[in-house]
Amino acid sequence: MAIASRIDTVRAVATVLLPTLAKGVIVRRPHVMGAAEKIQADATAVATMRALRERYGPEPIRLRITGRNIALLVDPDDVSRLLAESPEPFSLATKEKNAALEHFQPHGVIVSRGAVRERRRELNERVLRPSNVPVEEIVRDEADLLVRHALNTGSLDWDGFAQVWWRIARRVVLGNAARDDEQLIDDLKALRQSGNWAYLHPRRRGLRQRFERRLRQHLERGEQGSLAAVAPPEDLEGQVPHWLFAFDAAGIVAMRALAIGGTGAPGILESARLWPTTPIILRESTEHTKWHGTWLPKGTTFVVFTPFFHRDPDRLDFADSYAPEIWDGPRDPAIVPFSGGPGVCPGRDLVLTTAGTLIDMVSEHLKWPTLSAPLPKTLNHFGLRFTVTPVGTRVA
Ligand code: HEM
Repeated sequence: MAIASRIDTVRAVATVLLPTLAKGVIVRRPHVMGAAEKIQADATAVATMRALRERYGPEPIRLRITGRNIALLVDPDDVSRLLAESPEPFSLATKEKNAALEHFQPHGVIVSRGAVRERRRELNERVLRPSNVPVEEIVRDEADLLVRHALNTGSLDWDGFAQVWWRIARRVVLGNAARDDEQLIDDLKALRQSGNWAYLHPRRRGLRQRFERRLRQHLERGEQGSLAAVAPPEDLEGQVPHWLFAFDAAGIVAMRALAIGGTGAPGILESARLWPTTPIILRESTEHTKWHGTWLPKGTTFVVFTPFFHRDPDRLDFADSYAPEIWDGPRDPAIVPFSGGPGVCPGRDLVLTTAGTLIDMVSEHLKWPTLSAPLPKTLNHFGLRFTVTPVGTRVA
């Protein structure tokens, strides 16, 4: 059985798990992201994972942490099994996720179990279809503004991009009347910051009530042409906090896609492969399960560290390059930026359509120098700034 030595456990915790927590699992912390980029923290994490696999072989590697059963997966087929066999016996609603997410989305599908989960999952799948909103029209309006602003200032940076992205997100989810409601997103961000601290941070009841009141007002309008029109407000209010939270990740992925010159849905998928915004996929077993001939106890927390599987030079010859063509055919089962199996991100298609359309519209009008292989393992989106010129002129 693969049980990591004490020193290997310390290494895994120090170079894989802790840096991911430090960057902020729920909201990224800019100063830590900057520092992580400087030291290329993900390169060290991937190196640790490769060394562990080399030492212990393909079985799940159990970490020696008192009072907890934690298993790190290193075999792509195990990743595929873990995701396929979710939510039973591998539940998405792990202790850590519940602690982090209950600060702002205690009724989200991801922290639900059993029949309630089934119902909420079905609702998410039904509402989050891109065909439910005029994505192209919304994105075009906002992309025009972004392009004009970039041409005026000669550059495109994260702050400017994020403002436009949030306007798109609010229009898609809640409608045009929510377009400028920055307070809603600021309040959610403050609640998410508490989520970074999981159980260590006290609940912020007043703030949460204010956020929920504002959100409810938007949902009650049920504006046509937004997701809010697709289901009744009382069904949506428990789910929308996750959607707004996840639109943050989608904006980050879109900005990084621009940094590599990505276009369309494959550009978004590649950006999310290269720099996964859910770097740790967690599952908790609801019964004893057998792995490579070894039984792991009920309640084991399984950890899939996706940057390792997405950037593993031992298996992937495109590990550190922009390779949109890999999304055309059958893929490595452990390349899972949107997760996989029954717990796959139900917002995936909406993200690919919205973000894919935005990056296409921006690159139709602007050009800028892009990153080339080998692409950095850690990329701080807060620090991205492109010097832009109109398409049709030469980049100096
Ligand atoms: C680039 C952007 C995004 C990425 C990379 C992403 C990725 C993921 C991943 C990896 C999971 C699975 C987490 C786990 O297994 O623990 C997930 C779950 C989920 N995502 Fe996304 N997501 C994105 C954006 C969105 C957006 C914009 C929405 C909604 C509008 C959304 C809705 C959800 C929901 C509701 C779940 C929970 C699913 C469940 O519990 O069955 N995601 N996402």
